Amino acid sequence: MRSLLLGVTLTVLLSELPSHTAAAPRLICYYDSAGYERQGLAQFTFTDLELALQFCTHVIYGYAGINPDTYEMKSLNQPLDFDRRHFAQITALKEKYPYIKFLLSVGGDRDLEQDDKYVKLLEAGTQAQERFINSAKDIIRRFNFDGLDLAFQLPRNKPRKVHSEAGMVWKSFKKFFTGDFIVDPDAETHKTQMTSLVMGLNSAFKANDLLLSLTVLPNVNSSWYFDAPVIAQNVDFINLATFDFLTPARNPEEADYSAPLYEAFGQNRLPHYNVNFQMEHWLLQRVPASKLNIGIASYGRAWKLTIDSGSSGQPVQIADGPAHAGPQTKTEGLLSWAEICALLPNPSNVNAKGHAAPIKRVSDPTKRYGSYAYRAADENGIYGLWVSYDDPETASSKAQYVRAKNLGGIALFDLTLDDFRGQCTGDRFPMLRAIKYRLL
Ligand SMILES: *[C@@H]1O[C@H](CO)[C@@H](O)[C@H](O)[C@H]1NC(C)=O
Repeated sequence: MRSLLLGVTLTVLLSELPSHTAAAPRLICYYDSAGYERQGLAQFTFTDLELALQFCTHVIYGYAGINPDTYEMKSLNQPLDFDRRHFAQITALKEKYPYIKFLLSVGGDRDLEQDDKYVKLLEAGTQAQERFINSAKDIIRRFNFDGLDLAFQLPRNKPRKVHSEAGMVWKSFKKFFTGDFIVDPDAETHKTQMTSLVMGLNSAFKANDLLLSLTVLPNVNSSWYFDAPVIAQNVDFINLATFDFLTPARNPEEADYSAPLYEAFGQNRLPHYNVNFQMEHWLLQRVPASKLNIGIASYGRAWKLTIDSGSSGQPVQIADGPAHAGPQTKTEGLLSWAEICALLPNPSNVNAKGHAAPIKRVSDPTKRYGSYAYRAADENGIYGLWVSYDDPETASSKAQYVRAKNLGGIALFDLTLDDFRGQCTGDRFPMLRAIKYRLL
């Protein structure tokens, strides 16, 4: 009885401590179950996941989706999630790692069935939203998750178009059509609806002692959809997916830094395509820094260079869409950190040819923009590659930024694209480790 009372008193005391003294930085590890189903060297197993856990404060399982007819949350990966018990296997890790919180994420660009579903959910009214909330709560409790992450697929900033004319030199002409035209005429209404949905979720979740987080996907414009101060009061933390500002799919002709920390000047760049701008947007609205995490991608974005691109390699490069898929991830325009590392000059690729030939790395001593690497196209116009990426070094600079600004932490997207086999230097999860060591 005595110790019980003591325990209660202690809890009361602890919960009254000002939160900024207690909070250790978060390291949010996104786990995309697509990695579990990749083949060969890219296959990310359960053992790999366990190895990463020593570094994580939170694991976010990606991804669940929504049913467009009922607005109920559902699994996007059947039979894996339910029948093969992957949800349950993941949350069973809580027994071994009780200090890690496991959340389930909904959306995340994986819910491909109908692309305006998330806007429709916002517009669907309270009853439909109740159904969403209840179904989310049910799945989360049934499979023993600690909470829900909202990675809603809302309309994106339109990428600007670049028009090149035959024979013109890239540097001298450049005509940009900005992407600032209206994408969502009802954004104001959607913002109000988003706020009320998040408030509804929060009260349902708090009553059940569940966590709620928000992830703002790349190029979803925070100014349009999120009433920052109110949202911040109603979620436990916010992940800003501050990468993929430019991608070969969105910006096929314009190869540039895809996740710069600060605005890179010149070249007519858009001011909001960098980490610092996005973070400032939330901070300026007095959202507590400790609620905000910045997102880092464990993959790079890769464009194809042509003969027109020349050989300087400097951004912005005139490009020809997504580069050839990597040998392990097999996805056009994307290379995991392990795949990029294998292309950087090393003893085993000095004489390699074609898609395996070494690329030249250009580092960034200012630590403001990130690294890139490239290989000019050959005389037949093939094998040209330009890749923008974060490596353990630049990820560490971003962690430094998080420390300097007293932000909440970092979210890594995702574990399965980090070098989990240690193919690069022998260290497994080099991105995750670099972030962890700098955040400590
Ligand atoms: C949202 O888009 C507008 C242009 O339409 C831009 O000026 C603004 O900075 C963007 N906001 C954020 C947070 O990126």
